[in-house]
Amino acid sequence: FWARPRLGRLHPLCPFSPAGLRRWLSSRAPAPRICVVGSGPAGFYTAQHILKHHDLAEVDIYEKLPVPFGLVRFGVAPDHPEVKNVINTFTHTARSDRCAYYGNVTVGRDVTVGELQQAYHAVVLSYGAEDNRVLGIPGENLSGVYSARAFVGWYNGLPENRDLKPDLSCETALILGHGNVALDIARILLSPLDFLRKTDITDCSLAALACSKVKRVWLAGRRGPLQVAFTIKELREMINLPGTQPVLNPADFTGLENAVKEAPRPRKRLTELMIKTALEKPREKAVMAQAAVPRQWGLKFQRSPQEVLPTPDGMRVRGVRMALTRLEGSGDSAKAVPTGDMEELECGLVLSSIGYRSLPLDPAVPFDTQRGIIPNNLGRVVGVPGLYCSGWVKRGPVGVIITTMNDSFDTAQSVLEDLQGGVLDVSVSREGFGAVGSILRSRGIRPVSFSEWEKIDAAEVARGKAAGKPREKMVDPQEMLLSQGRPAPLVQGGTVCCLPVGSSKQNRQGH
Ligand SMILES: Cc1cc2nc3c(=O)[nH]c(=O)nc-3n(C[C@H](O)[C@H](O)[C@H](O)COP(=O)(O)OP(=O)(O)OC[C@H]3O[C@@H](n4cnc5c(N)ncnc54)[C@H](O)[C@@H]3O)c2cc1C
Ligand SMILES: NC(=O)c1ccc[n+]([C@@H]2O[C@H](COP(=O)([O-])OP(=O)(O)OC[C@H]3O[C@@H](n4cnc5c(N)ncnc54)[C@H](OP(=O)(O)O)[C@@H]3O)[C@@H](O)[C@H]2O)c1
Ligand SMILES: *[C@@H]1O[C@H](CO)[C@@H](O)[C@H](O)[C@H]1NC(C)=O
Ligand SMILES: *[C@@H]1O[C@H](CO)[C@@H](O)[C@H](O)[C@H]1NC(C)=O
Ligand SMILES: *[C@@H]1O[C@H](CO)[C@@H](O)[C@H](O)[C@H]1NC(C)=O
Repeated sequence: FWARPRLGRLHPLCPFSPAGLRRWLSSRAPAPRICVVGSGPAGFYTAQHILKHHDLAEVDIYEKLPVPFGLVRFGVAPDHPEVKNVINTFTHTARSDRCAYYGNVTVGRDVTVGELQQAYHAVVLSYGAEDNRVLGIPGENLSGVYSARAFVGWYNGLPENRDLKPDLSCETALILGHGNVALDIARILLSPLDFLRKTDITDCSLAALACSKVKRVWLAGRRGPLQVAFTIKELREMINLPGTQPVLNPADFTGLENAVKEAPRPRKRLTELMIKTALEKPREKAVMAQAAVPRQWGLKFQRSPQEVLPTPDGMRVRGVRMALTRLEGSGDSAKAVPTGDMEELECGLVLSSIGYRSLPLDPAVPFDTQRGIIPNNLGRVVGVPGLYCSGWVKRGPVGVIITTMNDSFDTAQSVLEDLQGGVLDVSVSREGFGAVGSILRSRGIRPVSFSEWEKIDAAEVARGKAAGKPREKMVDPQEMLLSQGRPAPLVQGGTVCCLPVGSSKQNRQGH
């Protein structure tokens, strides 16, 4: 492994490899060595753009998890497989002979940013947003309250969330937030099981959802219908979800048809869809009768969570006290101001979906704690020459993959300009992984290569095949290690995972 970091390909120092040939042809200019931290869309799109527009540059991608692709694997909902097609493009980039992937390396812990800067001409930080915003209200830590990040991580097989065992034994769930992540969660909670069965949702969460008693999901936002953060395609999907009934209060939409006339077209269409749905007669009884247990979901507006209320024994959530708000100002920038009135909403499950949050990585890197981003100009980290950033850690935790692609290309462009303009000194060659590999080895860290990931990938696909799923993800890093190259047996059967749902009280009291 150490002698051949790019497994299965000609070593780049071999004069007959394309990279070696290029180097030989331009032996007076050492190849720029670029390091990218994080293998989500930001990391891969940054690498892709640099490789495409520079004939010599070599890019090494370091990733904390053994497996690549960030939120494309661990965020995007399992019932949206088409979104994950970007993985094909990323795989193409990773297979380039001028690109290498080193998974299972946590930058900031296993190797410092300073050490990376010594080994590379430029370092791009694309490590995303690994934490979530918190409400900071009493009761937020009660059992039965989960962050959207943890819940999403759980159903998507993120190793750190594999033991979440969310308690789905209540009938009413409350999701806080009106973003697309909130809609993802509502959809997963209410989808017919047969829809999810054919997705790459983990076997364990599928089993837990099969035992779920949840049949009513409220999504509460602190502002109004004109300020929702979700988008029309995702809302329409929810409205059309079989076996479920939208519950929207027509009074929430009074006068909005006029107010939205001058709004940008996407906002106008989104609002019109909500109004139409709110005014629609409840679906025919016949339709409702078809569903043995009718499930409902609804939007609540102008409600700001104040306290998560405990059951009498103080052990778990029984509801949330909400402050009613009025809006000050209008449009996107309207502010929610409490009116003084309160309301209690009963629920046995709370999912806080108020956004993700980036964390500082290394004391050597400036970080704006207020905005939760690395301060930068077009991706150039302020005050640190040779250091760049892209993606959510550059912009904040908003934007779809295309938005992330766009800003990653911008950052890559800044790197290319600095290479061309001599801002980055490439006259001295850098060792790249040659240096970092020794550091990691001395610390007992064993990186996972891209071809090793491809073996894990193949094993996951093989495991899924039997169940008619695109893949059955490995959720245990130890399992990834053991099964490299051969299909692993299913470690966790559905019923095993189902048990903790019923016995969740016992389980929780342990914490
Ligand atoms: C739940 C959810 C669902 C979404 N669904 C969609 C969708 O359907 N369609 C769509 O277009 N967009 C969707 N998005 C948005 C999309 O995922 C983001 O725009 C995009 O993933 C941001 O890319 P990124 O590379 O900045 O961050 P990430 O995708 O988070 O990638 C960051 C990577 O860095 C790694 N990393 C973190 N710390 C370190 C470290 N110290 N050292 C090394 N590596 C590290 C992480 O493990 C991760 O792999 C969704 C987002 C979420 C949260
Ligand atoms: N299918 C898809 O395309 C898809 C799926 C998932 C995610 N994504 C994208 O990923 C990004 C992140 O999504 P997200 O849903 O996490 O974030 P988001 O779109 O920013 O939504 C966050 C929601 O939380 C609310 N909120 C924030 N702080 C709050 C507080 N203190 N109290 C009450 N409410 C609070 C916000 O309300 P305010 O507006 O009042 O602040 C907003 O409704 C988005 O760009 C999203 O579009 C896309
Ligand atoms: C919740 O717990 C965390 C640590 O577990 C703590 O930092 C935080 O202050 C707690 N929040 C509340 C509202 O009690
Ligand atoms: C891409 O970024 C540029 C600025 O860098 C911006 O002007 C443009 O609107 C962005 N496009 C999209 C689709 O986000
Ligand atoms: C990841 O690295 C650790 C050491 O930090 C090692 O014990 C583990 O086996 C590695 N995991 C994989 C999947 O290679």
